[in-house]
Amino acid sequence: MESRALRNGATTDELHRGHTLYLVHCQRCHEAVLPADLSREDWHLVLPGMSWNAGIDPAEEKALSVFIAAATR
Ligand code: HEC
Repeated sequence: MESRALRNGATTDELHRGHTLYLVHCQRCHEAVLPADLSREDWHLVLPGMSWNAGIDPAEEKALSVFIAAATR
């Protein structure tokens, strides 16, 4: 599938990868916290630590943040 740019400069590839990463990693230790359950500000604080917990690299963390931003209000 062709990768298209989104409004915020991210790509649909990142959005898709972020969703997959979220499904694979973010319910290993606890039930998945829905993106809309936290504010963007709170995600900004929580995501780096949880990315470290999940052992994902910075590019994957970026993709995850694209997915979370797309799924929050
Ligand atoms: C290695 C285990 C582990 C993994 C993997 C993990 N978490 Fe967590 N998570 C925790 C623990 C333990 C807590 C509760 C203690 C804390 O806040 O650090 C927590 C808490 C949270 C919270 C609540 C924080 C708050 O202050 O309200 C959120 C949101 C969260 N995780 C999201 C995620 C996301 C998104 C991912 C995927 C990147 C993820 N977690 C992966 C262990 C993990």
